[in-house]
Amino acid sequence: MEPTEKELAQLLEQAQKAAENSYSPYSDFRVGAALRLANGETVAGTNVENVSYGLTICAERAAVVRAISQFGPKIRIAAIAVANLNGTASPPCGACRQVLAEFIEPDAPVIFPVAGGTRTMAFSELLPLGSEMKLK
Ligand code: THU
Repeated sequence: MEPTEKELAQLLEQAQKAAENSYSPYSDFRVGAALRLANGETVAGTNVENVSYGLTICAERAAVVRAISQFGPKIRIAAIAVANLNGTASPPCGACRQVLAEFIEPDAPVIFPVAGGTRTMAFSELLPLGSEMKLK
């Protein structure tokens, strides 16, 4: 079911709150992501950096991994909100879009920070053809 405006606003608040837990000593870029699942649950994550830089995990992927760990492999993501505490734009990166594609509904709203506010786009606009590849 499509989340209401109020639910999306609450999801954004949860993303903001998760960003406070960010482990980002290398970039000082503090990001939070909150997922609303089709089962009505919400799950949040934050970015966890690494001295190698390359092993850094974004907030979005941290939330996805946490959601599956808590609720199993059949989860579906009905909406995702992203926030950062740095007051700048941060749409989900390409790697996170690819990982989200496994579990998110194509029409799920994705809310993310842009200059001066937030923007909401359907996931399929952020990653066209994201769910087209079928191995089985
Ligand atoms: N980051 C996220 O967690 N999500 C985004 O949407 C953008 C980037 C993190 C990765 C890294 O820890 C820091 O922000 C700078 O790129």
